[in-house]
Amino acid sequence: MERLDFEEGEVLRVGAESVIKAVRWRGLELVRKHRIPKKYRRPEIDERIRRSRTIHEAKTIVTLSENGVPVPLLIFLDIAGSSIYMQRIVGVEMRDYLVDGVDFSGAAYELGRITGLTHSLKISHGDLTLSNILVAENGKMWLIDFGLSLFNATLEDLAVDLHLLGRSLESTHPSLHRRFMEMFMSGYSEVAGSAQLSKIMEKVAEIRRRGRYVVRAGT
Ligand SMILES: Nc1ncnc2c1ncn2[C@@H]1O[C@H](COP(=O)(O)OP(=O)(O)OP(=O)(O)O)[C@@H](O)[C@H]1O
Ligand SMILES: [Mg+2]
Repeated sequence: MERLDFEEGEVLRVGAESVIKAVRWRGLELVRKHRIPKKYRRPEIDERIRRSRTIHEAKTIVTLSENGVPVPLLIFLDIAGSSIYMQRIVGVEMRDYLVDGVDFSGAAYELGRITGLTHSLKISHGDLTLSNILVAENGKMWLIDFGLSLFNATLEDLAVDLHLLGRSLESTHPSLHRRFMEMFMSGYSEVAGSAQLSKIMEKVAEIRRRGRYVVRAGT
């Protein structure tokens, strides 16, 4: 990407499938999410998978931006390099924001609204855990990491989002879980309606009973 003269900075995070680097471009603070090769895949297949996930994530980001869901703005899509250049959110992952004593009720309510809005577009996040929600310095919330998102999501896909969020809270912040989810649900129902909330909670209960989904390591 020489013509765009991005200045690559420090590595911020090494995720399960990508490296997130700080990048500057004409004074703008960005990040580059680069999906890295996996040695266990055949190279042609590996490249195809990385490209298609990158394109899929970019499509989701753009659709959500267009519809008012707070996601980092997509700045540039480098398909050949399996990379997304996007707005850098300076802040912390929700996981680290929820320290003892923090008043999280506003954040939980807002997250409920944002999730309700995403779901009203029939889009599921796919990996709604506390490390995929960023809280900026001004307290605003941002959703990230859409590699596993789905368009035309079914009720079950949407319920999995709530289930994973609940599991993520239970595993890292068990004492906050109940109150957080209560506030989350009131934000969610404000956007999606109480009938939709009841339907989805019924499905979440069903998923729990089945015990099909397990928390992913590190989330
Ligand atoms: N736009 C951004 N601004 C600031 N930090 C970001 C941004 N995007 C990602 N990050 C940071 O990098 C981390 C990993 O990003 P992301 O979740 O998109 O990658 P991933 O490889 O899919 O991760 P994993 O599979 O481990 O969840 C995030 O949890 C966050 O801390
Ligand atoms: Mg992630």
